[in-house]
Amino acid sequence: MASNGAVSDSKGHKFNPHFTQTVINATGPKAKPRVRQLTASLIQHLHDFARENELTVGEWMTGLELLNEAGRMSDDRRNEGQLVCDVLGLESLVDEITYKLATSAEDEPTATAILGPFWRQDAPQRAMGDTIVTGFEDKGDKTWMHGTVTDFRTGKPVEGAVLDVWHTAPNGLYEQQDEGQPDMNLRGRFTTGKDGKYDFYCLRPVPYPIPFDGPAGKILQALDRHPYRPAHIHFILTAPGYKPIVTQIFDRNSKYIEDDAVFAVKDSLLVDFKPFQGNSKADFELPYDFKLATYEDAKKHSVAGTTEESASI
Ligand SMILES: [Fe+2]
Repeated sequence: MASNGAVSDSKGHKFNPHFTQTVINATGPKAKPRVRQLTASLIQHLHDFARENELTVGEWMTGLELLNEAGRMSDDRRNEGQLVCDVLGLESLVDEITYKLATSAEDEPTATAILGPFWRQDAPQRAMGDTIVTGFEDKGDKTWMHGTVTDFRTGKPVEGAVLDVWHTAPNGLYEQQDEGQPDMNLRGRFTTGKDGKYDFYCLRPVPYPIPFDGPAGKILQALDRHPYRPAHIHFILTAPGYKPIVTQIFDRNSKYIEDDAVFAVKDSLLVDFKPFQGNSKADFELPYDFKLATYEDAKKHSVAGTTEESASI
């Protein structure tokens, strides 16, 4: 009898010491190497987690029900599984691992940040200098955002870069969450010309709570945490020959900048909205330059060899 009352075998093992390896060894010879590696590691960590915490059937079922509920809530407008990962910091960590470039260059490409669950495909193509505001025109602080997209290594402008941008309305909702907003409000795609420059009008975003009526909200509540994100604007940048960047920029003066519910804030992505006079179309100016890495540079300096190998099953 062990000191805590649990039964141990003669070598002091509380639980079957061969069980985990038996499960890992069940993988057949035709499994892809990356799938084999990931699942073996996952099994090991899951089993260690269960043993270390002496996980009970009831606790395991609670976790399982959260996962099932997240699946049932998810559709093309809501990705609850992703939200669960976000509040646990997993998407931010995977994003860092995937996109980090180990480069000794003085300059660095624009840092990445999580996609989040509110991106929509096929945002409208808009002309440079246009606005993405098609609803809430009279509310919120009108902002003129502008800058240049360059190659991080050469500093040269990138032609044909597409900026896909989206952010919340002043009521803290994305358009697909809110029947009061026109379809595709506060979304747009802009393509740079030879000079790599871009500019468009938007609104100064506001902090908002991530949806907390599902499993992600239950987790936050159980952990005594709030659901708020600091004010931010989302981007996906793509350009011929360059590795795409998924990122967000954050209003430095926003509430929750120090405790984002999904852990996405990085220092290099903090921006300043500057009061802007002399332009009746904007109350604030927001200058920001994006720096892209070519596929070649990304491959050379990538921490994880992510571009080729896929773990698809
Ligand atoms: Fe967002």
